[in-house]
Amino acid sequence: MSGSVRCLIAGNWKMNGLLAESLEFVRQLADNPAPEHVEMALMPPYTLLYSLSAPLADKGVRLGAQSVFYEHGGAFTGSISPEMLRDTGCHYVILGHSERRDIIGEGSELILKKLNASWESGLEPILCIGEHLDEREAGRTNEVLKDQLSVLASVPGDRALTVAYEPVWAIGTGKTATTEQITETHAFVHAELKRLGHDCRVLYGGSVNPANARDILACDGVNGALVGGASLKADSYMALVEAAASVNK
Ligand code: PGA
Repeated sequence: MSGSVRCLIAGNWKMNGLLAESLEFVRQLADNPAPEHVEMALMPPYTLLYSLSAPLADKGVRLGAQSVFYEHGGAFTGSISPEMLRDTGCHYVILGHSERRDIIGEGSELILKKLNASWESGLEPILCIGEHLDEREAGRTNEVLKDQLSVLASVPGDRALTVAYEPVWAIGTGKTATTEQITETHAFVHAELKRLGHDCRVLYGGSVNPANARDILACDGVNGALVGGASLKADSYMALVEAAASVNK
């Protein structure tokens, strides 16, 4: 992370969004509202990528996808390749989200294949990591994060990468980690990344909203936020961007 680090406000829409309402969302965004030190990105569902690509670019918002397949083409019914994502204008792809780990059963081996395929195609992965509540309560948070980050051990340090620390117990629950927990865990994640030869942004995710965003983004080691629920309405997403704009570290 040489030079100044831009604070990324990434909106993960998950399985939400139909065409008309999503175009209206983009229309409601201010024109290029983010200052130089803030970067905006949205990850709508696959079905909206083409339609939102140009309108979002006009507003200065980068496009991302929520997952990808690890092959580049061929007989893989129902799958989307990294090249297809690039073709829609995607810059980012979310990988390792806890909903894919826990509901779909994605594990480290599959995530590493997806990481490599993404890099081969010029996408920047946002690699999500995070512990469950029982793991935190058992004092195993760092052990779990270390294990999830170990997919990066064989990866050259110059790959475009963002990591998102998202405690699973804070996702969609309205519970956020305390600023002490966030600062402490981000310090561990940055140190572990460094040990593995990586130096990249680490976002925080899990019930980030306009009311708590400023305090979270002001924590040491927090380089942005990955936001689900609070990114679904334009005014709420803009409020997150404003919170990031007000923090200048
Ligand atoms: P949330 O989701 O902001 O709705 O908690 C965050 C995420 O899953 O990335």
